Amino acid sequence: MRIYVHPLPVRIWHWTNALGFVALILTGVQIRYVDLIGLLSFRDAVHLHNAIGFVLIANFFLWLLFYLFTDKIRVYHPELDPEKHFRASFRQLRYYGYGIFKGDPNPHHLSVYEKFNALQSMTYQIIMLLLVPLQFVTGVLLWDLKRFSGMVDFFGGVRVVDTVHVLLFIFFTAFVFLHPYLASLGHTTFGHFRAMLTGYEEVEEAPGPQKD
Ligand code: HEM
Repeated sequence: MRIYVHPLPVRIWHWTNALGFVALILTGVQIRYVDLIGLLSFRDAVHLHNAIGFVLIANFFLWLLFYLFTDKIRVYHPELDPEKHFRASFRQLRYYGYGIFKGDPNPHHLSVYEKFNALQSMTYQIIMLLLVPLQFVTGVLLWDLKRFSGMVDFFGGVRVVDTVHVLLFIFFTAFVFLHPYLASLGHTTFGHFRAMLTGYEEVEEAPGPQKD
């Protein structure tokens, strides 16, 4: 059976964000290694990087406002009992690191309000509420150092701001490889990708709250 798990605003946000992040990574590399890669001039790479950055900041609010003003925010907090959450995270880790290679079934059973497993709800939250905003804030500060000199000094100077921006760049570069790999471990290789395009996930059993 099919269940509707990714509403349209989430899908628009997601694919705009994914394309944008890849473009930010490529233009970022071009800015950093201008002597090695000559696809764009330094100036053009900076302009393009800034423009895409601002589009993604606006796009971020589509994701944030959608979840803040709908009850779908529950997908990020399906299990408020920390002990249960920890146990479910451990089960999921064991599955990805061991069970999957023996052909064990995925311990997570997807439903409308439990579309994420315990690891996903935790990591997506850290990424969307901490790391992505931090990447945007450091990017905006670096975009106009003069205008934001007070804030840059407050955070420890341009070196600190730039280092945080670059460390997060390294994290997101790893993420754009790891995240699609993990997304390919569904019931079929492309099942989750199709779902992020159509909104519908294919599930085997009737959707309902997961038992522990
Ligand atoms: C680079 C190409 C990307 C591909 C192919 C991809 C693929 C997917 C797929 C298939 C899903 C649905 C299944 C799942 O939840 O695991 C998903 C969800 C998600 N992805 Fe990506 N992704 C990409 C980039 C990104 C980036 C750059 C970010 C954040 C910086 C991101 C953040 C998320 C989040 C937060 C969700 C859950 C969205 C929600 O339902 O609220 N993805 N992605």
